Amino acid sequence: MLAPPPNFLVLVRQRKTAYEFTAQKVNSESIQKILEAGRLSPSSHNSQPWSFIIVTDDALIDKLMKTCVYGNFHTNPPALIAIVLEPIYENQPGLLKESLAKFTESHRYLNIGFAASNIVNQATYLGIDSCILSPVVEQANKLLGISGKKEAILLVGLGFGKKSSFSHEKTRKNFEDIVYYNLYGCKVREQHG
Ligand SMILES: Cc1cc2nc3c(=O)[nH]c(=O)nc-3n(C[C@H](O)[C@H](O)[C@H](O)COP(=O)(O)O)c2cc1C
Repeated sequence: MLAPPPNFLVLVRQRKTAYEFTAQKVNSESIQKILEAGRLSPSSHNSQPWSFIIVTDDALIDKLMKTCVYGNFHTNPPALIAIVLEPIYENQPGLLKESLAKFTESHRYLNIGFAASNIVNQATYLGIDSCILSPVVEQANKLLGISGKKEAILLVGLGFGKKSSFSHEKTRKNFEDIVYYNLYGCKVREQHG
């Protein structure tokens, strides 16, 4: 297991999708911390449109992994957190109701990304490897007993990556291609003073 990253940027650089896991289980204390990081995620109108299903049954994990549309997974993770996109309930705790209708539809899916991000980053902090997976929602819903307007939208695999196993290089766009100053397309930082 790796030592905890010394700062957040190191953590973000360190986190990468694991494609091959050992059989080592993730202990329940770590799972609890990872879930807490998910629970505390920001969301529009504090709508928290998520619930989490912890899956540790190997046969179920295998079936869920097979619903995922892309990826080169060699061995399954020993644990999955299924992130379920939930409807927003009028009386749920903390909901900010002002202009709610205006934003919730477009933001509902975005909110899930924050929960997934907190989950994988907390896992990395604990020295736990992870992967994020997109299941075919209807299939994952059926396997997980989800019905109604709820969607098993993402699966997060947790475990310990095999040493020298398959992995992609961390390739990202260059700063020059994605950062502008004051106006879209403007690459010159304004000089002050
Ligand atoms: C919303 C989302 C869905 C993803 N779904 C899948 C997936 O179904 N299969 C897969 O192999 N990777 C999936 N990924 C992982 C991405 O392919 C991966 O994060 C990206 O290639 C960057 O690699 P890195 O995670 O190693 O930095 C998903 C990532 C996100 C954020």
